[in-house]
Amino acid sequence: MNNSLLQTSKKLYIKTYGCQMNVYDSDRMNDLMGAVGYENTDDYIDADMVIINTCHIREKAAEKLYSDLGRIKKQKDKMAEQGRKMIVAVAGCVGQAEGEEIFRRAPVTDIIVGPESYQSLPDLVGKVIRDSSKEIDLDFKPDNKFDVLREVREKSEIGVSSFLSVQEGCDKFCTFCVVPYTRGAEFSRSVDKIYEEAQSLVKKGAQEIYFLGQNVNAYHGADANGEVYNLAKLIRKVAEIDGIKRIRYTTSHPRDMDDELIAAHAEIPQLMPFLHLPIQSGSNNILKAMNRKHARQDYFKIIEKIRKAVPDIGLSSDFIVGFPGETEQDFNDTLDLIEKIGFTQCYSFKYSPRPGTPAAEAKNQIAEEVKEERLSRLQALLTKQQTEFNKKFEGQIMPVLFDRIATKGKSDSKVGQIIGKSPWLQSVVIENKGDLLGKMVNVKILKARPSSLVGEVV
Ligand code: SAH
Ligand code: SF4
Ligand code: F3S
Repeated sequence: MNNSLLQTSKKLYIKTYGCQMNVYDSDRMNDLMGAVGYENTDDYIDADMVIINTCHIREKAAEKLYSDLGRIKKQKDKMAEQGRKMIVAVAGCVGQAEGEEIFRRAPVTDIIVGPESYQSLPDLVGKVIRDSSKEIDLDFKPDNKFDVLREVREKSEIGVSSFLSVQEGCDKFCTFCVVPYTRGAEFSRSVDKIYEEAQSLVKKGAQEIYFLGQNVNAYHGADANGEVYNLAKLIRKVAEIDGIKRIRYTTSHPRDMDDELIAAHAEIPQLMPFLHLPIQSGSNNILKAMNRKHARQDYFKIIEKIRKAVPDIGLSSDFIVGFPGETEQDFNDTLDLIEKIGFTQCYSFKYSPRPGTPAAEAKNQIAEEVKEERLSRLQALLTKQQTEFNKKFEGQIMPVLFDRIATKGKSDSKVGQIIGKSPWLQSVVIENKGDLLGKMVNVKILKARPSSLVGEVV
């Protein structure tokens, strides 16, 4: 690490696109750069360093990088006129996928790092300051990454709800998806390192631990004796830590949803009654073309089991519409599956062809207007289900963990709003000037909105 960086406090601006893994990575980059004297700021104007943590999952997400870099270039030039240097780093999945090409397309970029190599940022920044060089590191070294990150995380602030990455990467190669290329092969962290990190998070005030992984339920890490744990066993172990009130995990794959994990939902009180289990499509033809290696009936079977174990479980999924070859019948199969299952909140997307993935080469691509129209029909149904689900809670009392300020009062004496999460991951808003932030309290739900609940403390 370059000690000359430690001398004065500099400003760091981070912009984050993509999934929770990227949110987690941005926080860790903030920890890393904080340790060498960079303080977080929420504006890129005047920042000494800008990191754009990118997402490659759909074309739109990836293209945002270049419009951001255009804006940043103007600011960097302005600062250069004043004799100041702004360092621009591109991190995340576009960095991994496009590599050196980013230097060519946007020469404003000084550093490119991938999702498994960003632990080298402080060193690379040191080199750029010293030599005015361009630096790139795209190695896959997740083990080293987590060791470095743990060290700096020990010294940083902890939220009431804290992400804890347990698994990275993916070996499943769905035909539409870039993740196996951008995040690399599946990797599970060791049980002991996860346990110690969870202990330290709880000691520093975390009440909810949110296990993260691209395929979190494929977790298969070993403990010091070489015994391999699945996710259910890992959750059981972490649930024993004194002070843990809630445990969640995301994202799961239907193929890895084993009976032990389902049983864990019924048996571990801290494991929240919510499951995000993406199916992508309700049509077996499409699931096959997607290489999902599970059928629609497998999904129904899992849902039947989990509802038997936890009758009030909230269910969520991801859907892609307009995958190559999707017929009206295939799409209706998806609507039918949604009708039959009943989801509480979902993510849905138009299929976006991604370079290097097999589905992008398919001849039978679906027209944009058809995708558009199907997406709006699908989303109308999902919104209806979500609204109905939320409505059921009007008048009920539920424990809410408050982790965010919505609107601040003008002064401390004025009332503002804070936001928390219900057991079913709904956002719950109450009027409060902030003293309940970080606390779990019982809230009576007064009104349900399509995507949040409004309540009052009882
Ligand atoms: N590992 C997770 C998904 C990670 S990507 C899983 O297997 O479920 C998050 C979501 O983005 C996916 O579930 C999928 O719905 C969507 N997605 C991925 N690639 C896409 C593409 N090419 N076009 C549109 N949506 C896509
Ligand atoms: Fe992508 Fe499929 Fe892996 Fe999920 S399981 S990350 S959708 S390849
Ligand atoms: Fe995007 Fe990479 Fe996550 S492509 S969805 S940021 S794993």
